[in-house]
Amino acid sequence: MKSNVPLLDTIMTYIIKRKGKQIRPIFVFFSAKLFQGITESTYRAASLVELLHTATLVHDDVVDDSDERRGFFSINALWKNKIAVLVGDYLLSRGLLLSVQHKDYELLEIVSNAVKEMSEGELLQIEKTRNLNLSEEVYYDIIRKKTASLIASCCAIGAASAGANTEQIEQMRLFGEKIGIAFQMKDDLLDYGDEDIGKPRGIDLKEKKLTLPIIYTLNKAEPKVRNKMVNIIKNHHNNKTKVAEVIDYVNSHDGIAYTKAAMQTYVQEALDIIDNLPENPYKPNLKELVNYIIDRHH
Ligand code: IPE
Ligand code: IPE
Ligand code: MG
Ligand code: MG
Repeated sequence: MKSNVPLLDTIMTYIIKRKGKQIRPIFVFFSAKLFQGITESTYRAASLVELLHTATLVHDDVVDDSDERRGFFSINALWKNKIAVLVGDYLLSRGLLLSVQHKDYELLEIVSNAVKEMSEGELLQIEKTRNLNLSEEVYYDIIRKKTASLIASCCAIGAASAGANTEQIEQMRLFGEKIGIAFQMKDDLLDYGDEDIGKPRGIDLKEKKLTLPIIYTLNKAEPKVRNKMVNIIKNHHNNKTKVAEVIDYVNSHDGIAYTKAAMQTYVQEALDIIDNLPENPYKPNLKELVNYIIDRHH
C-alpha cells in the first residue's frame, strides 16, 4: 500500500495498524477450501474484498458522521471528510488494480457488482430515512444490498478461485447472501446493546436509521406511543436522553427477540445450503464461522 504522497502514506499506516475482524477474507478462504482448495488467485480475491470493505467503511463513516471505528478515531474524525472521501477512493482503486494487473476478470466482475449494490444500498437507506421507513421489506432490501452483496461475493469468488462449477458458485453466493443479511442484523442489534463494540452505539437512531428491532416494535405499538417515538426520532434525534428513552422502549419490548429469531432463520437457511454441498472436511469450520457471526460481541 506504499505511495509517494506522504499524507497518504501516514493514513495508510494508520489504517493498516487498526485491523478489523477480517471476516470477509476468511469467508473467501473457507469457500475455496470447500472445493479444490486455496490458489494464488484466492489470496488476491481475499485482499481485494478487504480493501473494498475498508474503502466502504471509510466512506460510511463520512455518511454516518461517525467518529469512531475499530476502537479508535475514524479517518473523518482525524483528517476530516474531504480527505476521507479521497482515501476511500484510493483504497477502492488499489483493490481494482490488484485484480486487473493479474487479469482476475471473473472475480472482478462478481465483486464490482457487489460494490455497485453497496452504493445503491447506502443511497436507498438515505432515501428511506427521509420519511422514516417502517417496512420490514424495505429494511431487508437495504441490508441485502449494502452488506449481504459483498459477503455473497466473498463466498462466490472463493469458490470460483478453487474450481467450483457455475451451480456451486451460485449456491455459495446464496449462502453468503443469507449470512450477510444475518451479519447486518447482528450489527444492528449491537447498536441497541450496551457492550463496547469499538464504534459508537445508538448511532443508528441518531442518524434516523430505522432497523428491524425498532421497525417491529413501532409497528406493534399503540398509535399514541408510536407517534411519540416517531416524533423523537424525527425532531429530537440529537437529544441523548430522548433517544435513550426510545432505545429503552425497544429493549423492553419484543423488538430484540424478534430480530434475533429472524436472524436465526437466515442462519439456518445458510447452514442448509452448506449441508447440501458435497461432503468436505472443512464444512464444520465454515459452520463454526457462521455461529461466530451471530454470537460475536463486536
Ligand atoms: C462493519 O463490518 C460494517 C457492516 C457491514 C456492518 P465489520 O463488522 O466486518 O467491520 P470490521 O472490518 O470487523 O471492522
Ligand atoms: C453498514 O452499515 C455499512 C456498509 C455496508 C458499508 P452500518 O452503517 O450499520 O455499519 P457500521 O455500524 O457503521 O459499521
Ligand atoms: Mg455506519
Ligand atoms: Mg451499524
